[in-house]
Amino acid sequence: MKYANAFTDTFHLGDDILTIASSAKSRKKEHPEAIDATIGALLDEQGKLLAFESIETLRCNLDSQKLRAYPPVDGGKDFQNAVRNWVFKDKRAALESHFHMTSLATPGASGALSNILSNYTNEDDIVLIPDIHWSNYQAIIGQTKATYDTYPLFEGDHFNLSGFKEKALDVLNKTGKLVVLLNDPSQNPTGYSLSKTELQSIIAYLDLQAKSHPVILIYDIAYLDYADTDYSLTRNRFEHFLAIESDLLVAVCFSASKTFGVYGLRGGALIGFSRNGVLIEEFSRISLYKARSTWSCPPTTPIHIMTALDQDDTLRMTFIEELKAVRSLLQARAHAFLVEANEVGLKMYPYKEGFFITIPCQHPQKTYQSLMTKDIFVIPLSNAIRVAVAAISLKEIKGLPEIIKAHLQ
Ligand SMILES: Cc1ncc(COP(=O)(O)O)c(C=O)c1O
Repeated sequence: MKYANAFTDTFHLGDDILTIASSAKSRKKEHPEAIDATIGALLDEQGKLLAFESIETLRCNLDSQKLRAYPPVDGGKDFQNAVRNWVFKDKRAALESHFHMTSLATPGASGALSNILSNYTNEDDIVLIPDIHWSNYQAIIGQTKATYDTYPLFEGDHFNLSGFKEKALDVLNKTGKLVVLLNDPSQNPTGYSLSKTELQSIIAYLDLQAKSHPVILIYDIAYLDYADTDYSLTRNRFEHFLAIESDLLVAVCFSASKTFGVYGLRGGALIGFSRNGVLIEEFSRISLYKARSTWSCPPTTPIHIMTALDQDDTLRMTFIEELKAVRSLLQARAHAFLVEANEVGLKMYPYKEGFFITIPCQHPQKTYQSLMTKDIFVIPLSNAIRVAVAAISLKEIKGLPEIIKAHLQ
């Protein structure tokens, strides 16, 4: 007798990152010298989940009555204001005058991705993602009835624009519609960020196609706050969207997990914008309905953290200074890894910034197993392994590229 429905019966998480990470965590508990480079979270130099002091103090002092009450399904007006201010900063006004915009509080960027993908794909649709991607995209797309196709992310050490266009055209020819899911900047798993001209070219191409077809760009900015050498540059990328002339629908997925170091609190947002106001009314209606019918209303703690930061300039400035210090620590770790990797000739995908460095290899499972014998835990991907520099200390990085190179299979 079948209990699960015919569709959900096919669901299997397999080697999910969180499952691999939890076995690495238990090993490290018993053997503290083990190196756990599995998890997509920032740890401090002592191996503890990194806390931003300003956020911790704020979180501990939030009004319990507000936290326990049901929030509005979309997070409420103050949250909408706070999240748009945070995500777009000085680019908000220009975006709001060029586009119609709507926003929704979600449980993490995962909630945002799930909401938009389930609302905007049909059974025969194909979501376009790069060949090297965050593996959970497969599950999030898998719970819709759509499928996905991939394009080669790199051509040498830069984005493969022609490969992307070729696959996009192929999808358009097959389905008459284009749904593109782009994780940028500081892509998981490679740490690649699109250059200004690469992002401009992608937007220009989608804008052109959107003049004759429905086109949706899902822009997953989970690691936005860790991008660029200087923090002040992080929001410049939103200027390129102002070139859009068509009805192209852009869905920005924001993660409070990474920005504020509050992974378990499940904060995030889905922000939709388009030149076409009718599309945005529809977006607002269906995203709200989907939210209400799945998680009902969003977790309150991240909503109140973001609202408080928005309304208190001093608090926000304090947090931004802490964030800058953490960004420098992450940059120092990545730099240390890259310098040593270059010295020992360990090849990596082009890393610019962010939590992860990815190393191509032929047998990721064997490499993963072999490194495990040395108490080093990484994430095996397809034809690559991922090392979370966000989760390991400078001391642990010393000598690591050489060991990885020796165990690559
Ligand atoms: C690329 C990418 N997008 C989205 C997410 C989801 O983050 P969260 O749901 O915690 O906000 C992650 C988390 O690892 C990620 O790596």
